[in-house]
Amino acid sequence: MAIPHPAPLSGASYSAVELAPSDDLVWMLDQRQLPHEERYVELRDAAGVAEGIRAMVVRGAPAIGIAAAYGLALEAHALAGAPADRFVAAMRAAGELLAGARPTAVNLRWAVEQVLGTVADLAARDDRARVIAEHARGIHRDDVAACRAMGAIGAKHLPDRGTVLTHCNAGALATGGYGTALGVIRAAREAGKEIRVLSCETRPYLQGARLTTWELERDGVPVELITDGMSAHFFARGEIDAVIVGADRVAKNGDVANKIGTYGHACLARLHDRPFYVAAPRSTLDPATPTGAAIVIEERSSDEVVRIGGALIAPHGVHARHPGFDVTPARLVTRLFTEIGEVPGERAFELMR
Ligand code: MRU
Repeated sequence: MAIPHPAPLSGASYSAVELAPSDDLVWMLDQRQLPHEERYVELRDAAGVAEGIRAMVVRGAPAIGIAAAYGLALEAHALAGAPADRFVAAMRAAGELLAGARPTAVNLRWAVEQVLGTVADLAARDDRARVIAEHARGIHRDDVAACRAMGAIGAKHLPDRGTVLTHCNAGALATGGYGTALGVIRAAREAGKEIRVLSCETRPYLQGARLTTWELERDGVPVELITDGMSAHFFARGEIDAVIVGADRVAKNGDVANKIGTYGHACLARLHDRPFYVAAPRSTLDPATPTGAAIVIEERSSDEVVRIGGALIAPHGVHARHPGFDVTPARLVTRLFTEIGEVPGERAFELMR
């Protein structure tokens, strides 16, 4: 089904998340159904948005931050007529609920704090819900602009012709639109570079197989799918020119948390003398987390590993480990691209707020 929003901020014909013009409804593209079905779910309160984030209806660090900001806009709308003190308390409670929905991507808490930082000053105003909705839309617009800016910065590093490996989905579906890692690839292609993509399937949630291939094929970007374990083979054969991924949190020392499996590709890139690039907006950079060791890694259910599409692939009763993310040490990050500039991974702190 086509996106119901009359003018999506994503700038594309689909969007991970949008706030309706009436400010009382959020549309989320149900990414659990892709690539088979393009279906939008309607959410009417902050609790529903928090559940959508937790259940990964929407996923990807910037996109869940935007969704949380929209969740707070719904809450503000629902609190019409509430006295100022009750408004502030209810907004803070909704913020905690939203920020706690997933632990690793710092964009989630960052976006919640951006909005909550204004509520005390707005609480006595008649137009507070409208102002908060516009603030949330501003976070969304800024993210699309950041993706385009880092795309232009990163594209210069890609070869005129070559193959880029990516892991997970750091595209339009994971952001306000355009994408971080996939934004760099889009920008390179818009600049006339002949970039092909190897997309790792990204076990167990299959963001690479289901989402990255879906959005790149829609844009006519040549993409081939590989299983995660195949990347060493293609590095060894000289078939990968560069790796580019997104991030869920970049610690002060430049260590990068991203989807489980990323670290292995970074090691292989170093072994085979290929650049490993990370593209992320500054909302992903976290000066409050000193090193990667301090990043909370989300543990997801064993069931997501032992089943594929509902079918059990391991003996009944086997328990699986399921960390959702891993940490790539800063020294393996050749360049970090953000909307304001680029640095080697170990100098990430120079780009932090
Ligand atoms: O569990 P997910 O799908 O939310 O994980 C997403 C990733 O790891 C992405 O690579 C990251 O959020 C960057 S998205 C621009």
